[in-house]
Amino acid sequence: MSFNNLDTLYRQVIMDHYKNPRNKGVIEDGSVTVNMNNPTCGDRIHLTMKVEDGKVIDAKFEGEGCSISLSSASMMTQAIKGKKIEDALKLSKIFSNMMQGKEFEEDLDLGDIEALQGVSKFPARIKCATLAWKAMEKGLREQEKNN
Ligand code: FES
Repeated sequence: MSFNNLDTLYRQVIMDHYKNPRNKGVIEDGSVTVNMNNPTCGDRIHLTMKVEDGKVIDAKFEGEGCSISLSSASMMTQAIKGKKIEDALKLSKIFSNMMQGKEFEEDLDLGDIEALQGVSKFPARIKCATLAWKAMEKGLREQEKNN
């Protein structure tokens, strides 16, 4: 696949998550709640997660933001559902490396998240893409501490 086609494909994946966000909403009986905002633009995310036996069994988000931040939140909730806390945190580390343009294991199947790879080339947008992930990390680390 040529680079241009790959870009188009990635853009479509991002726009699909933006227009049809997965896991939008609030978990009323969620065990973890995090509010975070992007200081550069004021956009925000409200993330709720349900964690049981060290596993994220559900995750939902609400918020205001650009297409990158909201699609990233959608992809993030999709990716961590069903994962152990440690695996969700590991994924967050991988994502952060990806945003810094660092190498990550090629054979790792990141699913839709891969579509955000190109964001690493736009420093001003990295904060948009990492907002939801930082919120998830904060919530799960606090949860770990309390148990
Ligand atoms: Fe605000 Fe992207 S411009 S999160």
